[in-house]
Amino acid sequence: VTKNGIKELADRLLELDRPVPRYTSYPPANHFVAIEPRVFINALKNAGNPLSIYVHIPFCKRKCTYCGCFSMVPPGQNPVGQYIHDLASDMENISRELQGHHEVAQIQFGGGTPNFLTAGQLSKCMNHLKENFRILEDAEIGVELDPTFLEQSQVDTLKKTGFNRVSLGVQDLDQEVQRLIGRGQSREKTVNAFNMCQNAGFDSIHIDLVYGLPGQSVESLQLTLQEVIDMGPDRLSLFGFAYLPGLRPNQAKIPCDKVPGSRTRAELYLTATDQLTRAGYVRIGMDHFAKRDDELAQALEQGRLHRNFQGYTSRLAPDLLGFGVSAISDIAGAYFQNTKSLEEYSSRTGSGVPAVLRGFVLSEEDKIRRQVIESIMCNKRISFKEIEKCCLSSDSFNKHFEESLEKLSSLAGQGLIELNRDSIEVKLWAWPLVRLVAAAFDEYLEPGAVYSRVI
Ligand SMILES: C[S@@+](CC[C@H](N)C(=O)[O-])C[C@H]1O[C@@H](n2cnc3c(N)ncnc32)[C@H](O)[C@@H]1O
Ligand code: SF4
Repeated sequence: VTKNGIKELADRLLELDRPVPRYTSYPPANHFVAIEPRVFINALKNAGNPLSIYVHIPFCKRKCTYCGCFSMVPPGQNPVGQYIHDLASDMENISRELQGHHEVAQIQFGGGTPNFLTAGQLSKCMNHLKENFRILEDAEIGVELDPTFLEQSQVDTLKKTGFNRVSLGVQDLDQEVQRLIGRGQSREKTVNAFNMCQNAGFDSIHIDLVYGLPGQSVESLQLTLQEVIDMGPDRLSLFGFAYLPGLRPNQAKIPCDKVPGSRTRAELYLTATDQLTRAGYVRIGMDHFAKRDDELAQALEQGRLHRNFQGYTSRLAPDLLGFGVSAISDIAGAYFQNTKSLEEYSSRTGSGVPAVLRGFVLSEEDKIRRQVIESIMCNKRISFKEIEKCCLSSDSFNKHFEESLEKLSSLAGQGLIELNRDSIEVKLWAWPLVRLVAAAFDEYLEPGAVYSRVI
C-alpha cells in the first residue's frame, strides 16, 4: 500500500469510526451487576469440560503512565506470600465444588506482572494448580512477562514447571516513547528477554505492541516494527492505546499534546498492519498477528478461531475459571468477576466463599447474540445456516435478526460489508471496523456510554 493509499484509507475509516464496545464479552462488562456467590457455585455444577483457567497477578514494580490494566505497585509490606496463599484457597474451594471431574486445556497467568513473583513463588502457584486440577498433557500454559525485570532463574522455572507460551510486554522500542509511558524499558532488556525465552525453547513467543502511544510517529513505529520482525516472534498483538485520562489517574500524567490524534492513530494502525502482513504475518481479528504456519493463522483459515477474555485461541475450552483479584470467570452461560480488593479476596477465600462480586447471567437470547458476535469478531463472517443450526430451533436467521439486518443495510451501503442471502462478510479494507458490525447485534448498546474508539 502506498503512502497516499494509506491516507485515503485512513480518511474512509475515520469517517465511519465511532465508539463501540470491544466485545471481549457479550454483554460488555459495564453491564455486570451485583451477584451472589451461590449463583457462581450453582453455575460450577454445569461447567463445561475441558476448562480454561486464568490467574491474575496484580502486582508491578512500577505503574506505567499509559497502563489500562488492573495493576498496582504493592503498598507497604510485600503482599505476595499472602496472595499466593489466598490463590491456593480459592483454587481448593472451587475444585471442591467441581468434584474433580474437570480437565484443563488452557492456563494463562496475566496481570499486572506475573514475573513480579520470584522463581520459587511462580513454581508454588503452578503446583497449587496441579494439586487442584487435572491439567491435560497437551494443555497450553502461558504467562505475561515484563522484560525489564525478567531473570534467567524465572525463565528456567517457567519452562521446568510446564509453561509452554510466553508473552513479552514491549509496547514500543523507541526510547522517547518508553520515557513518556513511564516504563524506561531499554532495547537491551527487551532483546535479552527475547533471547532467554528463545533459548529456553518455549513453543511460542508473543510480543505486545501498542499504537497511538505518546511520542509515537509513523516513522518511529516502523523502526520498532522492523526490529521486532527481525527478532521473529510467533505472534504479535498491536493494541490501540486505550486513553481515558478522566477514568485512569496514571494516564493523566501523560502530556496530552504528545498523544497522537485520531488521524495519526489511523495512519499508525494501517502502516503497521501493512508492514506486518508484508513481513509474512497473518492478521487475526483486529489486533493480533501470527506467523502463517502458527496454529492461530491455521485456525483462522479453517474457521476454527475462538475468542475469550485473553484474546484469540484455537482451542475449544470456552468455560473459563478466573482466579485472583478482578479476574472474570465465564461459566455455564454466566460471567462472574472477583473483587478488586486484596483484603476482601483474602477474607472471602479464607472462609471458603468464592470472591465473586459482580457478573451477568445470560438469557437464551443473549447466548445466541454472543455466538453471532463471536463469529463476526473471529471469522469476519456470519453464516446464517450455521447460526440457525447451533442456536435457532425454529426461527430463520433473517426473521430473528430483522432489526439487526436493517441496521446493517446502511453499513452495506457504505461498502463495509457484503450482505448476502445467507451470509454476511466484512470486506477486507473494513476489518478494523468489525466492531461496528458486531454492534448491530448488541441489544445493550447505549449511545451515550463511554467506549474507546474503534481505531
Ligand atoms: C499486563 S500487561 C503485560 C505484562 C507486563 N505487565 C508488562 O507490562 O510488560 C498487558 C498488556 O496490555 C497492553 N496494555 C496495557 N495498557 C494498555 C492501554 N492503555 N491501551 C492499550 N493496551 C494496553 C500492553 O500491550 C501490555 O503489554
Ligand atoms: S503495563 Fe504492565 S508493568 Fe506497566 S503498569 Fe501495566 S501491568 Fe504493570
